[in-house]
Amino acid sequence: MPCGVTLIHDDAIHLARWVHDRSADLVYMDPPFNVGTVFRARNKLVGSSWRAKGALAYDDRWPSIDEYLLWLSPRLEVAWCTLHEEGTLWLHLDHRAVHDAKVLCDRLFGRSAFRAEVIWTPGNGSRNRNFLGITHQTILVYARGKQPIFHGRDPVMREPFAATSLAMHFTQRDAHGRLFRERIIGGKRYRYYADEGRALGSVWSDCPSMEANTPLLNETTGYATQKPLKLLTRIVRAASRKGGLIVDPFCGSGTTLMAAVRDERQSLGMDIGALAIATSRTRFQHESIEIALQNT
Ligand SMILES: C[S@@+](CC[C@H](N)C(=O)[O-])C[C@H]1O[C@@H](n2cnc3c(N)ncnc32)[C@H](O)[C@@H]1O
Repeated sequence: MPCGVTLIHDDAIHLARWVHDRSADLVYMDPPFNVGTVFRARNKLVGSSWRAKGALAYDDRWPSIDEYLLWLSPRLEVAWCTLHEEGTLWLHLDHRAVHDAKVLCDRLFGRSAFRAEVIWTPGNGSRNRNFLGITHQTILVYARGKQPIFHGRDPVMREPFAATSLAMHFTQRDAHGRLFRERIIGGKRYRYYADEGRALGSVWSDCPSMEANTPLLNETTGYATQKPLKLLTRIVRAASRKGGLIVDPFCGSGTTLMAAVRDERQSLGMDIGALAIATSRTRFQHESIEIALQNT
C-alpha cells in the first residue's frame, strides 16, 4: 500500500477541511506548551557551526492560561472528530498546561475516554539550581471507543526484564533453548519469554531528546522543540495499523510524518508556521520521500 504524506500549511483549527471525520487511527498533538517564550530555529552555517537564534519558529507567549485553553479547546475538538472508533488522541504537553488540559479533555471527550498518561523524560537533566527541577513532559492519551488499537507486543513497547527477575524466575528453557518462566493466574497458565522482554509501562526514559536537538547528530533539523524519532516511532507503532492514517495538526519539523512513512502508515501534518513547513519539506527531500504540499 502506498504510504502518502500530506503536508498542509494552515491553522490546525481547519483540520476538518483536510481530513474526513472518523478516518484516523491516531492523532498526535504537540502544540505550543504555554512556555512564555518565542522559539527560533538553529541554523546551520557554513561548515559545521550552528547559530542558535535563527528564523522565528513560533511564538509561545499567552496572556493567561485561560486564553491558552480557549485557543486549544476547539483544536482538540476538531482533532477528536477525525478519529474512528478504534482511534486514540495523544496530547503532548508539560507541567505548564497539562493539568488544566487534562480537565479540559475530560470535559470534551468524557472522563472514561482517558486511557493513559505517559511520562517522557527527555534526559536533559535539571537546570534548576534552587529547587527540584521538572525533568519530564507528559502525554495524555484518550480513546474514542472501548477497544482502541494498541500493539503492546510490538518490540517498541517492550523493555528488558530486571536482572534480578531474570536470575530468579527465568529458569526453564523450551525446545529451542529460549529461556522462559510460567505463572498461573486465575487458574490459567501464562508463559513469558525472557527475550520478549516485559511490557513497557507509562514512564519512558529511553528516547533522549539529544537525538533530535544536538547539531552533531544526524536526526536534528535545527527546528526548535523537534521530538526524537524514537519517541514518535513508538507511538505510531503502538497505536496505529499499517496503512492506517495518522494526523499531526502541529507537525513542526515533521517527526510524526517521518515515523509514519517509515512504518508504512498514511500521514497528514499541518502547521501554521512557514519555517515548520519548509523544515519538514527539506527533511523529506533529504530522504527522497515524496510529499503532497497544500498551501492555503
Ligand atoms: C512543539 S512544536 C511541534 C514540534 C514537532 N512535534 C516536531 O517534532 O518538530 C509546535 C508547533 O505548533 C505550531 N503551531 C502553533 N500554532 C498553530 C496553529 N494554530 N495551527 C497549526 N500549527 C500551529 C508551531 O508552528 C510549531 O511548529
